[in-house]
Formats: sequence, structure tokens, C-alpha cells
Amino acid sequence: MSQPTIESILQENRLFQPPAEFAQAAHINSWEAYEQLYAQAQADPASFWAGLAERELHWFEPWQQVLDWHPPHVKWFVGGKINIAYNCLDRHLTTWRRNKAALIWEGEPGDSRTLTYAQLHREVCQFANVLKQLGVNKGDRVGIYMPMIPEAAIAMLACARIGAPHSVVFGGFSAEALRDRLIDAEAKLVVTADGGWRKDAIVPLKEQVDRAIANDAVPTVENVLVVERTKQKIHMEPGRDHWWHDLRVGVSADCPAEPMDSEDMLFILYTSGSTGKPKGVVHTTGGYNLYTHITSQWIFDLKDTDVYWCTADVGWITGHSYIVYGPLSNGATTLMYEGAPRASNPGCFWDVIEKYGVTIFYTAPTAIRAFIKMGEHHPKSRNLSSLRLLGTVGEPINPEAWMWYYRVIGQERCPIVDTWWQTETGGIMITPLPGAIPTKPGSATRPFPGILADVVDLEGNPVGVNEGGYLVIRHPWPGMMRTVYKDPDRFRRTYWEHIPPKDGQYLYFAGDGARRDEQGYFWVMGRVDDVISVAGHRLGTMEIESALVSHPAVAEAAVVGKPDEVKGEEVVAFVTLEGEYVPSEALAQELKQHVVQEIGAIARPGEIRFSEALPKTRSGKIMRRLLRSLAADQEVSGDTSTLEDRSVLDKLRGGA
Ligand code: PRX
Repeated sequence: MSQPTIESILQENRLFQPPAEFAQAAHINSWEAYEQLYAQAQADPASFWAGLAERELHWFEPWQQVLDWHPPHVKWFVGGKINIAYNCLDRHLTTWRRNKAALIWEGEPGDSRTLTYAQLHREVCQFANVLKQLGVNKGDRVGIYMPMIPEAAIAMLACARIGAPHSVVFGGFSAEALRDRLIDAEAKLVVTADGGWRKDAIVPLKEQVDRAIANDAVPTVENVLVVERTKQKIHMEPGRDHWWHDLRVGVSADCPAEPMDSEDMLFILYTSGSTGKPKGVVHTTGGYNLYTHITSQWIFDLKDTDVYWCTADVGWITGHSYIVYGPLSNGATTLMYEGAPRASNPGCFWDVIEKYGVTIFYTAPTAIRAFIKMGEHHPKSRNLSSLRLLGTVGEPINPEAWMWYYRVIGQERCPIVDTWWQTETGGIMITPLPGAIPTKPGSATRPFPGILADVVDLEGNPVGVNEGGYLVIRHPWPGMMRTVYKDPDRFRRTYWEHIPPKDGQYLYFAGDGARRDEQGYFWVMGRVDDVISVAGHRLGTMEIESALVSHPAVAEAAVVGKPDEVKGEEVVAFVTLEGEYVPSEALAQELKQHVVQEIGAIARPGEIRFSEALPKTRSGKIMRRLLRSLAADQEVSGDTSTLEDRSVLDKLRGGA
């Protein structure tokens, strides 16, 4: 079991047809149907999306213009009035779905809750009214730092309902990381919980919030709204901190959804890039609603009888688009699980599938590789016959893991959708449509209708069949990010200028390498920038380097990814020390802990390598390529002539 190599992928020629029974009942039910939709969308993207927006969503007021494209700035459904919480909740209440399960929740300790659409609507309205009482107005940003409990989704929908953009911060991020994000977003209020369950331990979320905003470090935060989850003792700052269960008493459940402009900001979500601090990716209302809605419907083939489970955390884009907004907009039943496979219960995912009769299961390759290690007996001892469709997201899936997923979890009955997309794209971009597109293990297959994906060289010229290049998108789509919060220049530089516009056409640069095969199938090879993926979590090497150099012992640091069987990549840090410090195991541990404190456990280096110097070019650039080879214990190959001091390399090789 290993990461995909170019050799292994080039040899991959297994093809899996959509099962006939599945295809018959699917929303998009044949290759011809897909090709027809794709051609239609390509010929006239604006009418394609407008037709869907009209058919699939509720608008308070119609738009005047479908698409306004002033590269790199885009507007969709200009002038239209819409509310995504209305589309996710209210419109289902007048149908039989009123009493259908909207959200099924399973807590790690085994407690559970099911909320019907009517109940979820009621909770959201009350939550929204409490936010208003605490002074949150349309346009104010709200930080959400929550465990995986229904109130995380409720808080998001409540914000959307009143037009207050949310900024969800993954509960695994440290107080420092949370602080940076709250400062950048200028959050007025933070929603959190006393704690959350994670691998049999309590994550002290409220304590982290206290640390993040202590000493007025985030002056914009006026109130903290706390949901009770774990019931351990926490500090409640009088006047600032409020229990949700106290404030909701007697609060009206009547809160009409605010008609939002289609282009009003829905949320900010921070993600790592190759340079600088994490960037606040901005998504707006109408286009994002449509894009997550239609991708959910066609890619997961959502039916009213489905129990749909995406294992992501709401702190990531996958949780936003495919736990909360996309499924609920379709009136689907979405399942939320607080826990993770852990030593005390390695088979917990399979128990959840059996308990609730999950029909659609969407997870990450890193999880699948961990399941392979744990052994087949866990899934095999559960009844997984309810499953009809499987999905993966977050990183390339190696064909061996794909085959295991297909055979052991899908029992050779379920199609697999390998979905390529990003925080920036809002929704899935390249993916099989499970009733229409035959799959190949390791390939995300074909672009979604309306997504004009291509593989080009650095000048923007398309590369040949099976030649590697840069993955780009040639036309705006409704779910695309609108800007980097408060930094439009960075938006332009990062995504639109890396590959210069060609013949007046702007290309969205995804930051991934890819190739396209004879059938036009895309094979995404991974990042081409200094972003690494550890257990499917996206980390900027520079962020980790900044964390390391903020420790007094560290003079300089360079971070690279090293291939890892389960996690995809592991963080390896090369560190030079300030004069008075000497390398030691204790110091390595301290530095690892320092990174955990600065960013969170997800960024913890697997290895710290002390070194007297780092390999640099004559112009002073760290030669990461060399470090990557060294970290992977590979021979350093390629050109090293630009290396300033060759003895550095010899020393590093010697295991400094
Ligand atoms: O490198 C690609 C990888 O994840 C990156 C986006 O990370 P993030 O914004 O955190 O979003 C993850 C969930 C959408 C991409 O640039 N990636 C995501 N899905 C795939 C993938 N790489 C290969 N195959 C995928 N299916």
C-alpha cells in the first residue's frame, strides 16, 4: 500500500461500469446524458446555470443578470434575492418533508438525536433570534468553534438566516490559530461549546476560546455563546459569556429568513496557501447555494429514501458544502457523527452505517488507508448492505485503496465517486456521476457539467494526452470563491496570475498537477506548490515554518512533506538552531509541541531534523526539492549546481 506513483497510475486500466440497476434510477443515468449536459453547459454556461437556478431554488426576487464576469471578479444572479437557510429549511416545511429526518446525529459516547426539518427549522430560528439579541446584525461576522454536534450546523444556518457571515474554525486548531482567524474576520461573536468528544477525550473548546480572546486580543468580539455538550466545569466570563440553553428560554421561534442579495457574503473559511498566513476564502450566497445543491443531487444521486453520511468535520469546506448546505437544500437526510475511529472502537464507522442504514458514505482516502490497516474483520462483522454509493475526497486515492473500498465496503455493488475540488471551488469539480460515468481506480474522471477543466503548461498552453501539467478551469462557475477576505490582490495573484491570461482568457489556477488520459479522464497528482496534505488536512509549509521560528531556539526552519502510508504525507522539519542551543531529543519534542500550540495537532511534525545549515541557492532560496528527497530518504537527484554550499548537502545526507 503506497501513495500513487506515476508508474502505478499509468498502468491503471481497470474500468468499472455504473451498475445497470443504479444507472436506471439515477438522476443522470447514462454517458450520453452526461455528455449532452456537458455540451449544453459548455455552449452556453449562463443559460445552463440560470435554468437550474430557476428550477431548483427559491428566490425572493429574480435576478437581472445571470453572470457578470470581470476577471477575476465574478457575480452570479446579479440582483437576485435569496436565503440559503430558507432553501435548506423553510421550503421543505410545506411538503411532506416537514416531518422527515433532516439531521441524524450520533455522539461519540453513543448518545444520539434526530431532528426533523420542522424541528431543525425551529432550532435555527431560535438560535438566530438569540444571535440578534446579542447584537449580531446583518453583515456582522460570527466565529464558530464547535465540536461535531447539531448546534454547529444550527449556528451556521442561523447566521445564514440573518445574513451574518460565519467563519467556522476547525475545533482541532489551537487557541493561537483561532485568534488569528477571529482577528482577520473581525468576528463580533463566537459560538463554541464547553467541550467536544474526540477519541475518548474531551477537547476543551471553551478554554481555547478564552485563551484566544484573552487580554482583548480580539477587540471585536463582544459575546461568546456557549453550547453545553460535555458538562465539565468551565469559566464563564460575566457579561461576555452566555449559555445557549439559558438565553433560548422564552425566545420566539419566529424569525423570517432575511432576503439576501445573491452576492452577499455567506461565509469566510480560512485555508492554507503556499505563502503567508491562511487566507480567508469568501463564498457568497446564490451561486454557492446552487452549486452545492446541484452537485449534491447529481453526484450523490440523492433520493428521499437515502441516509447520507459525510464523515468530514464542519470546520472544513467538505462539512460546509456536503454535510450542511448541499444535502439540506435538497431535503435529504444528512448524518453527523461526533467521533472518529479510535483504539477503543475501531469499527465505530461501520456501527453507525449499520445502526442508521446509511446508503451513501463519503470519506477521505486517509481514512480508507487507516481502515485497511485495522483489518477487514471490522467492516466484515457489520451489516453494510444498506450502502449503495461511496465517495472519497481530499487527496489522490491510490488504486489499491480504491479497490479495497470497492471490494470490502461497497461489496462490489456500489459505485465510487472520487471527487476533486477545493475550499476555493465551493463544491465538487471533477467527479464521476455515478449512474453515468464508468470509473477507473485513482481517477476523479470527468469534470462536472459547466466546469471547463483543462491541463496546461506554465504559459497556459494545453498539454498533450497523458502529459503532466497544471490543472486549470477556463470559465467561472457559480460556486467559485469571490475573493480573499480583505485581500483582493492576493486573490488575483494566487489564482489568476500564476498562469498569465492567454488570448484575453483568464485561467483559474488550482495549485494541483494533473494529466488527462486518452478518454479525457483527469488524474490529479497532488499539489505543485508548498502545500502539503497530512491525513487529508491542507497545511502550508510556511505556516509551520513560521510557527517553528517563533520558538527562541530556532534560527531557521524548512518544512517538507514525506510520503506516509496512511496519512499521505507527514511533516518533516529541518531546523537550524540559535548559537546557544544544542540538538537533543528533548528539544525536538519541545519544538513539536510548540507547533501544536501555535497551529494545532494536525500540524505536528512527525520528525525534526537538526542541521547546521539549510541547502540554499545562491540567491538565498531554500532548495526544498533537495529536502524532500532527503526527508524521503531518497537519493538526491536532478540539478544541484545552483546549490550555494555543496558541503551542506553532504552534511545533511550524513544525518545531521
Ligand atoms: O490537492 C487537492 C486535494 O485537496 C486540495 C484542496 O484542499 P482543501 O481546500 O482542504 O479541500 C479539500 C476538500 C475539498 C486540492 O487542491 N484534493 C481534494 N480532493 C482530491 C484532491 N486531490 C486528488 N483527488 C481528489 N479527489
